[in-house]
Amino acid sequence: MIQIFNLYKVYPDNHPALTDINLHIKKGDFVFATGPSGAGKTTLIKLIFCAERATRGQIIVNGINLAKIKKSGISYLRRNIGVVFQDFKLLNNRTAYENIVFALEVTGARRKEIKRKAWQVLKLVGLQNRLDATPLGLSGGEQQRIAIARAIVNNPTILLADEPTGNLDSEITQDIMELFKNINERGTTVVIATHNKNLAHQYSDKHILLEKGRVINPA
Ligand SMILES: Nc1ncnc2c1ncn2[C@@H]1O[C@H](COP(=O)(O)OP(=O)(O)OP(=O)(O)O)[C@@H](O)[C@H]1O
Ligand SMILES: [Mg+2]
Repeated sequence: MIQIFNLYKVYPDNHPALTDINLHIKKGDFVFATGPSGAGKTTLIKLIFCAERATRGQIIVNGINLAKIKKSGISYLRRNIGVVFQDFKLLNNRTAYENIVFALEVTGARRKEIKRKAWQVLKLVGLQNRLDATPLGLSGGEQQRIAIARAIVNNPTILLADEPTGNLDSEITQDIMELFKNINERGTTVVIATHNKNLAHQYSDKHILLEKGRVINPA
């Protein structure tokens, strides 16, 4: 599903962010990338959905070699990858429902189909009754649920999340993690980056432990 071979990432004028990474994330895995601040977690996530390009090495996602991908290939790749961020990244001038369907509208899906899919994910995240609210009228946990609904509405094979509970209190964090677990149990491969080791241990035994840009646990 996600294979990484001898991956290096060096940002301009900086020390290497990732050094000689080798990983194999299998279909259906629920895996955490953990490590202290600056370890390279965000960089790893960004490389997988092509928000950054590798300096050296190979990343293969769903059989696509990201080193060779062109612009049109990137949009195709991203249809199969949902991404969730710490700060939700919702459009504040749109309703929860509009935030979710926005991603579908750009794919040219039919209206009826869009509505059906949006309802399905709203139900999954438990927010059918808040579809008309704008993000600022929702709690942090609710905003993240909407962001997760948006990330999965296209039925991606992979869901990436970068510190998805970083802005949430511990009780809401558990709810959001349960939601990720649910999504994983429906067959989606889930990769979560977090500095919170305890959380990672609570929810999975598959960990990628990063330190100063290197994987320090055996792959
Ligand atoms: N756009 C960038 N330009 C230059 N250097 C960067 C950039 N993004 C990250 N870095 C550097 O790459 C290294 C890894 O950063 P990264 O954001 O991947 O770490 P992280 O594990 O996600 O940290 P945190 O827990 O603080 O989010 C750090 O040394 C950081 O300073
Ligand atoms: Mg980060």
